[in-house]
Amino acid sequence: MTGTMRLVRSLVKTAVRVNVPKHVDHFSKFSPSPLSMKQFLDFGSTNACERTSFVFLRQELPVRLSNIMKEIEVLPDRLLATPSVQMLHSWYTQSLMEILEFLDKSPDDHRVLEMFVEVLESIRNRHNEVVPTMAQGIIEYKDAFSRRDAVTDHNIQYFLDRFYTSRISIRMLINQHTLVFNGNTNPAHPNTIGCIDSICDVSEVVRDAYESAKLLCEQYYLGAPELELRQMNANNNREPIHISYVPSHLYHMLFELFKNAMRATIENQETSTTLPPIKVMVALGGEDLSIQMSDRGGGVPFRKTERLFSYMYSTAPRPSIGDKHRAPLAGFGYGLPISRLYTRYFQGDLQLYSMEGHGTDAVIYLKALSKDSVERLPVFNKTTLRHYKLSLEADDWCVPSKEPLDLAVYRTSK
Ligand SMILES: Nc1ncnc2c1ncn2[C@@H]1O[C@H](COP(=O)(O)OP(=O)(O)OP(=O)(O)O)[C@@H](O)[C@H]1O
Ligand SMILES: [Mg+2]
Repeated sequence: MTGTMRLVRSLVKTAVRVNVPKHVDHFSKFSPSPLSMKQFLDFGSTNACERTSFVFLRQELPVRLSNIMKEIEVLPDRLLATPSVQMLHSWYTQSLMEILEFLDKSPDDHRVLEMFVEVLESIRNRHNEVVPTMAQGIIEYKDAFSRRDAVTDHNIQYFLDRFYTSRISIRMLINQHTLVFNGNTNPAHPNTIGCIDSICDVSEVVRDAYESAKLLCEQYYLGAPELELRQMNANNNREPIHISYVPSHLYHMLFELFKNAMRATIENQETSTTLPPIKVMVALGGEDLSIQMSDRGGGVPFRKTERLFSYMYSTAPRPSIGDKHRAPLAGFGYGLPISRLYTRYFQGDLQLYSMEGHGTDAVIYLKALSKDSVERLPVFNKTTLRHYKLSLEADDWCVPSKEPLDLAVYRTSK
């Protein structure tokens, strides 16, 4: 590149950077376009067209990035000002700028298409550490302000669910494009399109996730409960159960559930010599593919079950951030909330049914049909803003008094 060209490029970059807020305003006015698993599959199979994908992504990625950047900007100042959140915000700005550079490029130039794949790969790497960095921001905020209010806690939970969903979706788009168009087909897995397996063997993923959690559990506790796996295919019980899904997402959720079930089982059975097994049932119906994982880990009180999905809750000791070598069996308290986001991202869900004193059933619900698995995406609009501005109003259910009640002198007045 000549000196003049370099100068022009750097001037263009500066102009883009200066205009970032304007671009964020512009792109956040569009709603993200959710794709279905079927669309992902159709697009990546026979008629895969890199040019079309490029034209779609150079608009859609800025839309998804800008929608969530708008939401980062309305976070409480005290959280927004933490070094971690500032760093995150700068990654988002940088990535947005890099994609905007392609807006005026010709989709017919194969060099442009190649460069686009490279830029997407570097964006994916830049954002690798988003989850622990955000977790660190929340810890910094929690430590600095020990007296937090319920509204802020609620807003942070609301924000993180949306922020991490947005991240999952952006990575999904980037992975599909880079994997389908990097020129390497995977002969070992002809049914894999990008990161989607059109005949994902659910029980195989259950076994893989179990084995990994078992290894970790054995390192930590010198033993692990056995797995009992059954399946029921209501459509044809002699056939194995297959769905179109992202195996890495399914693996992630199952691995998290296994770690929790193993920890609970072992910590609940300290005196007994035999560990009760973890039972998994995979069931396929006309609409749902459900996976139930049952442990005998003593359960959780009903009052606390919703709290388990909070990003601010874990009963495990907090692991140190920089410790990359130790993969803790439990730590930040992100296992359940993030797993639920993965299920919800394709219109499924994750629910916990616990019986205190006995054990816990965790159930993953997924859509059995690829046409029903449609991305569930946050959008930034007036309703979102109203949500953040909501103040805590007086409850319209009575709060039971803690004082002993003397019925003889009891009178009510408002
Ligand atoms: N199967 C279970 N039985 C009993 N308690 C459970 C079970 N699963 C989760 N819990 C409780 O819920 C809490 C939150 O679980 P979650 O997986 O979200 O976080 P964690 O396990 O503490 O940390 P990590 O982020 O490493 O998963 C746990 O600390 C534990 O107290
Ligand atoms: Mg966990």
